[in-house]
Amino acid sequence: MSGAPETAESASAEETEALGARLARELRPGDVVLVRGELGAGKTTLIRGACRELGVESPVTSPTFTIGLRYAGRIPISHLDLYRLGDLAAEDPALLDDYLDPATVAFLEWPAVAEPRLADRSLREVRIEHAGGERRRIAFGAATGRE
Ligand SMILES: Nc1ncnc2c1ncn2[C@@H]1O[C@H](COP(=O)(O)OP(=O)(O)OP(=O)(O)O)[C@@H](O)[C@H]1O
Ligand SMILES: [Mg+2]
Repeated sequence: MSGAPETAESASAEETEALGARLARELRPGDVVLVRGELGAGKTTLIRGACRELGVESPVTSPTFTIGLRYAGRIPISHLDLYRLGDLAAEDPALLDDYLDPATVAFLEWPAVAEPRLADRSLREVRIEHAGGERRRIAFGAATGRE
């Protein structure tokens, strides 16, 4: 993908899941999707819709006691939430490698801490912003760097 991000409006969690599903249809093994937005913006909700589209039948919730979860869809999927991972440099360098490989589609919430390690990956980006009540503005595009 290149150029300006494509934007969409969502009026409900269901619509955000549907937008996640639409995104998923474009994804290929090895793609890494950086999902940005404030707490409660709907990152996990969008990823849930994407995972359903990719054939995941088990519940898709935020990773809690681990930085990531793996799901078996039609292709392998990983879902990372790096919110609590303060300093990746202090961690085992292989920490992320367990979740990122050429066969897997990976979704990353709060990706900033990992971005220096992702330069050689096929990156996509989703930005979700609150737009009042249950409305959200969602931008899809190529990754544009750290925030
Ligand atoms: N349009 C919408 N899109 C997505 N979620 C919505 C929308 N309207 C309301 N919600 C609600 O907002 C919440 C979003 O939670 P979610 O866990 O997806 O956010 P998150 O961005 O992953 O947060 P965190 O940073 O804490 O992981 C859910 O309770 C969802 O039902
Ligand atoms: Mg989340």
